[in-house]
Amino acid sequence: MVRHWGLLQTLYLLTLALVLVHCQTEHEEEEEWVEEVEDITLTTVVKPRGGPCPQDCNCKVEGAVDCAGVDLKEFPNDLSEDTRQLSLQNNQIEMVTTENLARLHQLETLNLQNNRLTSHGLEDEGFEVLRHLSYLYLANNKLTAAPKHLPPSLVSADFAANQLTTIYPHTFGYKPQLRSVYLHNNKLTDAGLPEHVFNGSDNLEVLIMSSNFLRYVPRNLPSALSRLHLKNNKLEKIPPGAFDNLSHLRELHLQNNLLSNDGMENETFSQLTRLEYLDLSNNNLTMVPKGLPRNVVLLHLEKNSIHSISSDVLTPVRNLEYLLLHNNKLRSRAIHPLAFQGLKKLHTLHMYNNHLERVPRGLPRRAKTLMLLHNLISEINRNDLAMLYTLTELNLSYNKITTPKLHKEAFRKLRLLESLDLSGNNLHALPLGLPKSLQVLKVKNNQINTIPDGALNGMTNLREINLGNNQMKLSSIYQGAWQELSALTMLDLSGNQLSHVPPDLPESLEYLYLQSNRISTIHASAFESVPNIKSIFLRFNRLPMNAVKESTFSYLKNLQVLDLGPATSDLGNEEEEEEVDKEDQ
Ligand SMILES: *[C@@H]1O[C@H](CO)[C@@H](O)[C@H](O)[C@H]1NC(C)=O
Ligand SMILES: *[C@@H]1O[C@H](CO)[C@@H](O)[C@H](O)[C@H]1NC(C)=O
Ligand SMILES: *[C@@H]1O[C@H](CO)[C@@H](O)[C@H](O)[C@H]1NC(C)=O
Ligand SMILES: *[C@@H]1O[C@H](CO)[C@@H](O)[C@H](O)[C@H]1NC(C)=O
Ligand SMILES: *[C@@H]1O[C@H](CO)[C@@H](O)[C@H](O)[C@H]1NC(C)=O
Repeated sequence: MVRHWGLLQTLYLLTLALVLVHCQTEHEEEEEWVEEVEDITLTTVVKPRGGPCPQDCNCKVEGAVDCAGVDLKEFPNDLSEDTRQLSLQNNQIEMVTTENLARLHQLETLNLQNNRLTSHGLEDEGFEVLRHLSYLYLANNKLTAAPKHLPPSLVSADFAANQLTTIYPHTFGYKPQLRSVYLHNNKLTDAGLPEHVFNGSDNLEVLIMSSNFLRYVPRNLPSALSRLHLKNNKLEKIPPGAFDNLSHLRELHLQNNLLSNDGMENETFSQLTRLEYLDLSNNNLTMVPKGLPRNVVLLHLEKNSIHSISSDVLTPVRNLEYLLLHNNKLRSRAIHPLAFQGLKKLHTLHMYNNHLERVPRGLPRRAKTLMLLHNLISEINRNDLAMLYTLTELNLSYNKITTPKLHKEAFRKLRLLESLDLSGNNLHALPLGLPKSLQVLKVKNNQINTIPDGALNGMTNLREINLGNNQMKLSSIYQGAWQELSALTMLDLSGNQLSHVPPDLPESLEYLYLQSNRISTIHASAFESVPNIKSIFLRFNRLPMNAVKESTFSYLKNLQVLDLGPATSDLGNEEEEEEVDKEDQ
């Protein structure tokens, strides 16, 4: 699953990596720091500098005074008037007075992050003289109210992880240069925001207000916004038209709120013509919202109470690639057969942990990854999967599928399928008609007591088979079953009833799991056919001490793990066996 996450997620990882290099303090939304970080680097000019430097600080770079993390308890007062960058982060400063700032007319960057500033200790009139201040970092302090006035030169402001309850009209308003504001992890309520927080700050692109106590999406947001984060609030309502002017918005995070379908209009999202990422997970939605815009690529709707999908809600989202609907209340018949029609780019669909009784009809034709695990699917009919020509990964584990209800031609059209998981169902036999393209096959935790003749024929791409925790004996497996599997590296037959190491293992095999069977003897030639084997697990069998000759393994030159463990002491003790299985896999 993870490897399919695509561009957006990759970007996040990259961003995170960048940030980790620069950023010392812990933050809930570290990825949101990258803009600031880039800006700092841009404004730093490397030149030697003369003049006084406060004790314990570093002034090697012209115009920059670096007093980060030197246990300062007070704002240094012997600063040069030429100071443009002042780094005071990670200290114990409690007060910043008007006098402290009065001489610093040239200041462009002020970093006071991670100190002990309270609103009482921060004399906000001081900021008015800082006519060149562009970057202000006040995250991780104890501020309860934002400064009333910040200079109009401001480009980026970080107030994350304080205790802010109040913001004033001139805190972030009337700042034509302002591009990013970070307010996550505070105590903001709707009442603490002025009606027009960003009036006259028309260039704001990034606004992060996650983890506050907002009940309404703020109104009158600037139309330049491209990223808006409002997750972990108490949002119940999106006021009509709240997003109507945000035609540049690309990323909208609304997860972990209390949004219901009643709390928004049909057209709420419809004007977000550039929106690519919409996260509405973990809310109180019962239906997919109407009017979703066409350009959304990644849509999070998981962890709601969605019980149905009508024919017209998803089809307009033509660019949809990832649709996450897991942990909802979907039943198969409540998904309209045309619900996914025309979604040609939709390749990843997660519907696990729902109430599906069968494979829904009309699944997206170009799907590559289909996660249907943990549902109530009890049968797979001949044509249930017949349209999914491009499917590569199908996960049907932990459903209620039985062998008689699994049509033997059900998989016939899945010519590209690489990974199939049928674990945790009620199968009695390994299904026939599995696609020859399969690379990974998991059918553990069933009641399989037969591998029917030819079931594995021609599966030359198969790398891994997990048949653990079934009811197989050696006689359940047709002769030569493994022999043809020329790509097989991993075979898990643990937790079955085998009395011997299976014969005819393929030469490619590297990992063999046979723990918790009934093996009581091992022939000296048992592993002759697997010269490349790296790990063999044999614990919890019936091998008496000293029953295994060293010569059985001595010629296996790649063998790294030979786990003979203890023998089964108490055959009735199932729990113990299961535990060991998990460890070993
Ligand atoms: C918003 O700013 C404009 C000027 O930029 C001003 O005319 C208007 O009164 C302001 N509105 C509010 C509600 O502050
Ligand atoms: C959208 O922008 C227009 C023009 O700038 C303005 O009149 C209107 O009030 C804005 N609407 C919202 C909801 O901000
Ligand atoms: C929203 O959609 C529902 C269902 O289609 C419809 O009954 C309702 O009238 C719509 N509301 C508005 C305000 O358009
Ligand atoms: C979720 O929505 C249902 C019905 O729309 C409502 O009864 C319930 O109180 C809501 N739950 C929360 C936590 O808002
Ligand atoms: C099916 O999904 C489960 C849960 O995510 C996962 O553990 C399992 O590995 C998946 N199966 C395959 C074959 O990837």
